[in-house]
Amino acid sequence: PRLWAVVPAAGKGSRFGADCPKQYLDLGNAAVIEHSLHALLAEPRIATVVVALRGDDSHFQQLAVSRNSRVRAVQGGAERADSVELALASIAQDAGERDWVLVHDAARPCLSGSDLSRLIEECLARDCGGILAQPMVDTVKRANDRQQVVETVDRTVLWRAQTPQMFPLADLFSALADCRKRGVLVTDEASAIEATGGHVAIIQGSHRNIKITHREDLALAEFFLNELRA
Ligand code: C5P
Repeated sequence: PRLWAVVPAAGKGSRFGADCPKQYLDLGNAAVIEHSLHALLAEPRIATVVVALRGDDSHFQQLAVSRNSRVRAVQGGAERADSVELALASIAQDAGERDWVLVHDAARPCLSGSDLSRLIEECLARDCGGILAQPMVDTVKRANDRQQVVETVDRTVLWRAQTPQMFPLADLFSALADCRKRGVLVTDEASAIEATGGHVAIIQGSHRNIKITHREDLALAEFFLNELRA
């Protein structure tokens, strides 16, 4: 079976408040998305990386990585899940029945090769979808609608989901379509698989695999990238 990768990069990055979507901001010697794509392209088992872009994207074509023979661009959708589903639809005819897909945020530039290969090996060995995730370090509170604490949640069973998230391609494609039709809220690929009764393994990843969300995250990501290269 082949391994495909999908990179949703069709977000506006509205929480960030920059003129340019956060995946295209400079991070050291390259744009955020170039780091994310190079992390995937460095894995020889990944045959093709499909990037989902906004219809009016004017940045991606300017990047050298857009001309990489293993990279394809397609138009994304209104929500992240729509972007992933459209990317999967674009490869459905080329994909084999037992192919796998790894979905990775354009905005996660600090993915290490060792985390990526461990995720792939665990999913293939268990024949089960899986996600990189981090244990919760903060104490977590449940609150009511008046923002008063109701209780402290047992954090030993809580994980922060990262990407990549790896699933049998056909399973993820049908789970996303199913959730869209039923109106289920899908914030990551695993939530679509969970909502349709599938299994998701947790593979502990590095705390360096952050998602660029706020401006300060860029400096932190640059620090982590230098650590990864050292
Ligand atoms: O906004 P958030 O940080 O959750 O976005 C995660 C990833 O999903 C980003 O890489 C973003 O570009 C992508 N996305 C997308 N299509 C959308 C919304 C977000 O591909 N409609």
